[in-house]
Amino acid sequence: MKPKILVTRRIPEEGMKLLEEKFDIDLNDEDRILSKEEIIKRLEGKEALLSLLTDNIDKEIIDKFPDLKVISNYAVGFNNIDIEAATAKGIPVTNTPGVLTETTADLAFILLCSIARRIVEADKFARAGKYKGWAPMLLLGNDVHGKKLGIIGLGRIGHEIAKRAKGFNMELLYTDHDRDEEFEKQYNAKKISQEELLKESDFVTLHVPLTDETKHLMSEKEFDMMKDTAYLINTSRGEVVDENALVEALKAKKIAGAALDVFEEEPKIHPGLIELDNVIIVPHIGSASKETRGKMAEMAAKNMINIFEGKEPLSIANKEVLEK
Ligand code: DGY
Repeated sequence: MKPKILVTRRIPEEGMKLLEEKFDIDLNDEDRILSKEEIIKRLEGKEALLSLLTDNIDKEIIDKFPDLKVISNYAVGFNNIDIEAATAKGIPVTNTPGVLTETTADLAFILLCSIARRIVEADKFARAGKYKGWAPMLLLGNDVHGKKLGIIGLGRIGHEIAKRAKGFNMELLYTDHDRDEEFEKQYNAKKISQEELLKESDFVTLHVPLTDETKHLMSEKEFDMMKDTAYLINTSRGEVVDENALVEALKAKKIAGAALDVFEEEPKIHPGLIELDNVIIVPHIGSASKETRGKMAEMAAKNMINIFEGKEPLSIANKEVLEK
């Protein structure tokens, strides 16, 4: 008999096919997020869980199902799972880094260019029939090339951003726990303090995981430090930015604009952001290319299968459980 697992929402075929071969799947095939109660109910009698970043797998759920063999998260981020609780129960939590790096960096750079050159505003303007002919002052934006880009968090995605920025001849500043001398040489980049980065950058792009340390990393004090001509790009996690402070900063013109893929209380979007023209809002689509979502699905499935076959998963958030 195949082991029974819960898949909280259909993932691309590349992953479903692999899972179907090995498991008896209880699949939420509706186009909606399961509630906590539904997850608990449907986890009864299951040996493993394939979760999404929209599923809050908290201590209560984990404590109810301490025998889960694995929680395979279909995301690189795993802030939706109580890792400490899973580790205490010896449950491996796996994730899908690497395969979405370039796609997410693409989106961050597209957002950066789009907010600087007012692409969304310009599209709305043209569709509204307001275009009456070329004009010297029509929809003037800001250049991207040659500007200073501040990368907060030089992980995989931060590196890929740098690659794209180089093509635009941008000057690179970064903050991270560690210095990366090779990166500095390759991109002529400078590691500086967050304060200096905020003061100097024309664009600030966030690439940190959500942790206690990074929650509201960007708040009133930080917006006050930024140039009034600078833009904020966030494709990391919504809670890294204090949205109330961001709305205030935008309204007071302390910064020039923001382009956001993630929000503090997804799927809710701060009403103050929706009103503003100098904000681009996209609904958490950083990794949303067909190719990448397929690769994430394959990786999430393989992570789960490997655990069942006694092999190392491709990526694990709490390695210590395998070492016991
Ligand atoms: C992730 O995998 O954590 C991303 O946010 C999904 O796009």
